Amino acid sequence: MASETVLIIDFGGQYKELIARRVRECGVYSVIKPHTISAADVSKIAPIGIIFTGGPGSVTQDDAPTCDPKILEMGIPVLGICYGMQLICHMMGGVVASGEKSEYGTVLAELRGDCPLFYGQGGQRRVLMSHTDMVTVAPPGFDVTAKSAQCMIAGIENRDSSIYGVQFHPEVENTQNGTEIIRNFLYRICSAKGGYTMENYLSEQIKLIKERVGDKKVLLALSGGVDSSVCAALLERAIPGQLTCIYVDHGFMRKNETDEIRRVFEKKNINFRWIDASDRFISKLAGVTSPEAKRKIIGEQFARVFEEEATKLGHIDFLAQGTIYPDVVESGTNSAVIKSHHNVGGLPEKLGFEGVIEPLRALFKDEVRRLGLLLGLPKKLVFRQPFPGPGLAIRVIGEVTREKLNILREADAILREEMSSTRTRADQYFAVLTDTKSVGVMGDCRTYEYVLALRAVRTTDFMTCEFARIPYGLLSKISSRITNEVPGINRVVFDITSKPPATIEWE
Ligand code: XMP
Repeated sequence: MASETVLIIDFGGQYKELIARRVRECGVYSVIKPHTISAADVSKIAPIGIIFTGGPGSVTQDDAPTCDPKILEMGIPVLGICYGMQLICHMMGGVVASGEKSEYGTVLAELRGDCPLFYGQGGQRRVLMSHTDMVTVAPPGFDVTAKSAQCMIAGIENRDSSIYGVQFHPEVENTQNGTEIIRNFLYRICSAKGGYTMENYLSEQIKLIKERVGDKKVLLALSGGVDSSVCAALLERAIPGQLTCIYVDHGFMRKNETDEIRRVFEKKNINFRWIDASDRFISKLAGVTSPEAKRKIIGEQFARVFEEEATKLGHIDFLAQGTIYPDVVESGTNSAVIKSHHNVGGLPEKLGFEGVIEPLRALFKDEVRRLGLLLGLPKKLVFRQPFPGPGLAIRVIGEVTREKLNILREADAILREEMSSTRTRADQYFAVLTDTKSVGVMGDCRTYEYVLALRAVRTTDFMTCEFARIPYGLLSKISSRITNEVPGINRVVFDITSKPPATIEWE
C-alpha cells in the first residue's frame, strides 16, 4: 500500500507496537511480523529498513527466538534493539554473556556522534535500559558506538553492511531524543523519503475503495465506537450514497449516546438504519446473572438482529469492518479467555458477501483518531473512551432490568460530567451498579438502596491499569451529586484496584 515500508521483526518484546508507531510518526509506514518470517517473505514486503525488537529471551539459550540468517545478508539496513542487537551479535560472531544482575531504568550513556544513527545526538544522553544479558565482544567488522557505566557495548555499527544495534530502547519516552535516533535510522541510514501522513493515507484509501467497490453496495455494522464511526465516515467520503449502516441499539448505551450517534450519521450521505432492539435484548437477559452468559447472549442476539436486518436489505456486495492494526497483530496470540469480548467484528459469514472491506486495518488507534478528525467527525466521538460491546449490561452487576439501567445511566452521566470538567487525568472512567443494597438514612427515614461503584483508571494499553488518583474533593462532589440526584442509590464507593488482579470492567 505505502511506497516505503519499514519491517519490524518481533522477538516478543513489549514495545513492538511502540516502535511501529514511532516509525510512522516519523513519516514512514511500518509493519510488524513474527521472527519466523522467511527472507523470501521479507523480499515480498521489500522494506527500506528492518528493525529487530527486544524480547524476553536470552540468545545464550538453545530455544531462544532467532531469525532467518539470510535476512542479515539482503543488503537492507537493520537496526537491532536490545534483544535484537544481542541476536545480531550472536548470529554474526560476537559474544553475548548473561549479566550478573539486570540493568533496568534510565541511565546515562555516551553516544558517538560520528555514528549516523546518533547524528546530532552525540555525548551523554539519558537512555532506558532493560536487560540482563549483554554484548561483551562485538562481531568482526563492527565498531562500538555507545557505552554506559554498566554496559561497555551499548551500541554497535557496521557501516559497510548497514547493520546497527542499540542495547537501550530509543522508542520509549524515557530515552532522551529517542525518536531522533529512529529518525536518523530512517532518513540517514535507510534513505527514506517520508510522506506517510494521514492526509495521504486518506486520499490513497479513497482511491482504493472506489476502485474495489465501483458502483456496488457496502454494509457496515455501526457501533458508535471510534473505529466503526471512522470507517463509516471514510466510506461515505469514498463512495457517497453506496453505504448502508445498521446501528443495532441494544438499549445498553449511555445517556444520550444513541441520539448523538444518530445526529452525526443521519445527516450524512449514508443509508442509516437505527434498529431499536432493546426489548428483545432485555427479555433475553431476564433472570441471567452470570457475566459470561450475559456477554454470550448479547453477542448472539447482536449477530441475529444484524443478520435479519441485512437480509431485509436485499443483495449487498461488501461488508465493511472497522478492524484496526492492533487487532491484526494480536489475533491468534491471545492465550486464556478472561472475558469474551463482543465486538461487531464477529458478524455472520452466511450473508454471502463478495468481500470484506477493512480500510483501517493498517492503522493504530491514534492514527484512526487523526483520520476521524480529518473526516470532520466531532471530537467527542473521535476521543470517545473505550466502551464495551455489551454496554451497560455488564456494568449492571447481576440481572439487568430497565430500572437498574436507568439508575446507572443517570449516575454515570454525573460522573462523566464532573470528570470532564476537571483536569484530573483518567483514561477511562465509568460507574458500576452493584447488586448490593445497603441501609442509609435520608431525612428521618431509613432507606435501603443500591451501592454504586465508581471506576477510574490510568492506562496506556488497557491490558494493565492503575486506579486513577481522583482528588477527594472531586470524589466528594460526585458522591454527593449522585446520592442527591439519582433515586435508588444511597451509597457510593470508589474502586481502588489495579489490573491485575482486577480487570477494568467488573464483568
Ligand atoms: P477489561 O475489563 O478486560 O477491559 O480489563 C479492558 C478494556 O476493554 C474494554 N472492554 C471491551 N471492549 N468489547 C469491547 O470492545 C467488550 O466486550 C469489552 N469488554 C471490556 C474495557 O472497557 C476496557 O477498556
